Amino acid sequence: MTSIVLYCRPGFEKECGAEIQEKAAWNEMYGYLELKKNQGLVFFHLHDAEHGEALIKKLPLKRLIFTRQWFVTLTDKLELPDYNRVEAIVENIGGDWQYSDLRMEMLDTNDGKALSKFCRKLAVPLRQGLRKANVLTSKNETFDPKQGGAVLHALFLSGQEVILGFSLANNSSPHVMGIPRLKFPSQAPSRSTLKLDEAFLYFIPRDEWDSRLTSGMNAVDLGSAPGGWTYQLVRRGMMVTAIDNGQMAESLMETGQVKHKMMDGFKYLPMKKNVYWLVCDMIEKPQRVAKLMSEWLLNGHCKEAMFNLKLPMKGRYNQVTEDLQSIKDAFNQHKVKYELYAKHLYYDREEITVHARLL
Ligand SMILES: C[S@@+](CC[C@H](N)C(=O)[O-])C[C@H]1O[C@@H](n2cnc3c(N)ncnc32)[C@H](O)[C@@H]1O
Repeated sequence: MTSIVLYCRPGFEKECGAEIQEKAAWNEMYGYLELKKNQGLVFFHLHDAEHGEALIKKLPLKRLIFTRQWFVTLTDKLELPDYNRVEAIVENIGGDWQYSDLRMEMLDTNDGKALSKFCRKLAVPLRQGLRKANVLTSKNETFDPKQGGAVLHALFLSGQEVILGFSLANNSSPHVMGIPRLKFPSQAPSRSTLKLDEAFLYFIPRDEWDSRLTSGMNAVDLGSAPGGWTYQLVRRGMMVTAIDNGQMAESLMETGQVKHKMMDGFKYLPMKKNVYWLVCDMIEKPQRVAKLMSEWLLNGHCKEAMFNLKLPMKGRYNQVTEDLQSIKDAFNQHKVKYELYAKHLYYDREEITVHARLL
């Protein structure tokens, strides 16, 4: 049976499953779900084996909010012997296709993490074995996804069980299991700083940072205290107006790049239309935030917006769909062209991150 394996944040399997099933159906591809509760793993078993590759070619991973990474299965779950695991894996892959990279993967759970040492150790002989069999083409471990091609995935459920599959380099995450490992900057005033750091990395292509994410730009941070997000803007050389009734970290105020206004983020508007970035991490109803963000963009108060939409306890997928639809409706009413992407990023918890700009 051919399946698509999807990784998401543990606890969000239902949302991840609902989304792939819905978007596959839009492409007239059907299957049934197997959710691994609290393991961050979803199987979408396809009725038609050919739809695995067809779907990952047709549907951009960027359009899936709750999926961090995905691959199409080449094998069902394989039982590995205690010895000669490499040979067993190479044999099961066969020699029909070549892959440009290998991803050793395990679940984002405590049991999964316990396997990481085992996977690291096995990776070296496995790469060698795959190269010898002419299945793996990359010469080193610094793989450039722009090279394209297919990527081989080995998902280890234990030391004895593996599922093998492939993704397309130009439509999958460059990070193992879709998880970027970011270093917490010691000068940042809160751990939330990693959310905006990851958001910029994920949504803004590196080769556009010079024009879209650069020093001298003006930015507004709504719900800014104590300043984790402001820190990310300041470190990129921006001038930031920080809006929050809470206190901002002294270290940020000392940079001279931050103006702090203690007021309601829903009432603040900049005097001049010279703001490039609007970022917003207010803990507020997502419907209200979505409306505020579309108003800022449509009224020309900012060029790009990066914001969080907090997730409800229940009906999370429906709520997110409604909130995003309300933004699309506002843009469509004004007949503007836009870019709108949303993702449940690794450093997000009960929220998703959204990026929007008018084109
Ligand atoms: C999750 S914290 C923000 C953390 C911040 N992004 C950071 O990295 O340090 C949410 C903030 O939103 C602020 N907030 C909530 N509602 C607000 C509103 N209506 N106007 C301004 N700030 C608001 C809270 O005071 C709180 O400081």
